Amino acid sequence: MEVIELIKRRYSCRKFDPKPVPKELLLQILDAGHLSPSGMNAQSWCFYVVTNREKNLAIGKKIEEAAADKLGEMVKKSHERGCPDTVFYGAPAVIYCCTKKSGGVLKEFDLGLAVQNMLLVAERIGLATVPVALAKWYGDEIIRHDVGIAEEDDFFIALPVGYRAADSGDEPRPRKDDYFKFIE
Ligand SMILES: Cc1cc2nc3c(=O)[nH]c(=O)nc-3n(C[C@H](O)[C@H](O)[C@H](O)COP(=O)(O)O)c2cc1C
Repeated sequence: MEVIELIKRRYSCRKFDPKPVPKELLLQILDAGHLSPSGMNAQSWCFYVVTNREKNLAIGKKIEEAAADKLGEMVKKSHERGCPDTVFYGAPAVIYCCTKKSGGVLKEFDLGLAVQNMLLVAERIGLATVPVALAKWYGDEIIRHDVGIAEEDDFFIALPVGYRAADSGDEPRPRKDDYFKFIE
């Protein structure tokens, strides 16, 4: 399939089926991240993959509780949609995407490139994803502790991975117009 087709087809998932993701598929996603370009080939990313859905749910719920005052309405809405948590949306697997503290100033840009490759390969192999910054904003310490992020790494963004629930109700979101200028 053409890359442009994958780019057009992908959209975020906010309700996952509990069905586990085979490890071979997770390895394909990780490989796509690892093959990304990086400034000075620093490769300052590292990925912690939790394939225990109950553990991911427990972490998501802890973050929900920690941010209850900020997430109140979102939590209510996702529970109404039958989604067990508002952070990872019931995903069976979560890739906790990290950078090496020792990485240079480009490490977060590089991680972004890696994550985009991962999103596209996930789409190609029939899996759904959503990048989750909320996990960093409200759950940094919880994730560091419960996932066991090493002292030399920083957690940056979570990537829940799984099969989109049949009743997810997810839809592609519109894009803004007027986002480039040609200077001739
Ligand atoms: C850096 C980044 C952080 C995001 N954080 C969250 C998040 O915390 N929770 C969430 O539900 N979606 C999150 N998203 C998903 C965006 O809301 C989504 O990509 C955007 O609305 C466009 O929709 P689409 O991915 O379906 O095309 C994030 C996306 C990016 C790129």
